[in-house]
Amino acid sequence: MAGPHTSIVVTGGAGFIGSSLVRHWLKHESERVIHVDKLTYAGLRLSLEEALDHPRHVLVEGDVADARLMADVLRDYRPAAIIHLAAETHVDRSIDQPPRFVHANVLGTCTLLDQATNYWRQLNSAERSAFRFVLASTDEVFGSAEADERFDAQSPLAPNSPYAASKAAGEHLARAFFHTYGLPVVTLNPTNNYGPRQMPEKLIPRMIVAAWRCQPLPVYGDGLQQRDWLHVEDCCTAIRTVLRRGAAGRRYLAGADQIFSNLSVVERICRLLDERLDDGNSRRTLVRHVADRPGHDRRYAVDSRSLRDLGWSPAVSFDAGLPGTVDWYLQNLDWIAAAEESLGRRGA
Ligand SMILES: NC(=O)c1ccc[n+]([C@@H]2O[C@H](COP(=O)([O-])OP(=O)(O)OC[C@H]3O[C@@H](n4cnc5c(N)ncnc54)[C@H](O)[C@@H]3O)[C@@H](O)[C@H]2O)c1
Repeated sequence: MAGPHTSIVVTGGAGFIGSSLVRHWLKHESERVIHVDKLTYAGLRLSLEEALDHPRHVLVEGDVADARLMADVLRDYRPAAIIHLAAETHVDRSIDQPPRFVHANVLGTCTLLDQATNYWRQLNSAERSAFRFVLASTDEVFGSAEADERFDAQSPLAPNSPYAASKAAGEHLARAFFHTYGLPVVTLNPTNNYGPRQMPEKLIPRMIVAAWRCQPLPVYGDGLQQRDWLHVEDCCTAIRTVLRRGAAGRRYLAGADQIFSNLSVVERICRLLDERLDDGNSRRTLVRHVADRPGHDRRYAVDSRSLRDLGWSPAVSFDAGLPGTVDWYLQNLDWIAAAEESLGRRGA
């Protein structure tokens, strides 16, 4: 199906998950990757490194909410699929600036769905039925899970933060484009990702960087909020799986069943840094409980059975993935400097 000259369009490929996905695709698949990114504070050229010069990678700098640009990209590159990752993603920023999230995550997604539909209608019938629009949503669209609850594909959307609401709106639009126009959309709701090249404003890299410097480690509230941690490489295989085998109009949830409280994750990071730096510090003592995030969800947990039925399973345990992640940041101090510069200069 995928020939050497076939293309896929990936949006948001200079971000955390996107930069792993672009690499992953170039390594494991044969298509050209046409990558559209606005290069906001969260999108770093440095995150793409060797992929930037790869002969099957094209970076188009621009906004997914720019209808003309997206129409041109689809017409010029004729992709067999679109993987839509581009978004504003930091919950704290969504609390400060909700309209920015509506622009990227609602208007941006709607514009891309609209242009994708125009493009898809002009394909021949074999191309139309093979085409997929993969929307990256999140487990946060379901709101907070009860102690024994796991969200599944039938769970109602009940977002609690402006970020989650903007992602839920994107999901509703994707569903409507499937039902109204037949656009073959597949939605993936992954849990919290972790791994290399995640902006140090998100929990795990933020704590690694602060603990490395022996700075205070601010933990929201009691720190007992639970998250299911999915390694970014496992998220990439989940995206590949739903693109190749997912049914149009369906939603798939991806979690690793590695559910830990934020506080216990921070404590693990402290131990890993104490061992690695061996400087006599006990970084656990740097934890400071600070005022909780407004509307903070207590627990996320998902049932990934429908994705596992497609042959996917996570390969990286948290016990292996977290030390690997800590090591990656310690070995990539130039990347941390670039990310912090971007956060300070463009993220403010
Ligand atoms: N990171 C997670 O834990 C996680 C979990 C579940 C779902 N998701 C979803 O996965 C996707 C990727 O998340 P991430 O953590 O890699 O995000 P990120 O913030 O690291 O990267 C986002 C990327 O999108 C680009 N971008 C933002 N607005 C854009 C626009 N209007 N037009 C074009 N590009 C734009 C940025 O420049 C950046 O490269 C998002 O849709 C997010 O909602 C993330």
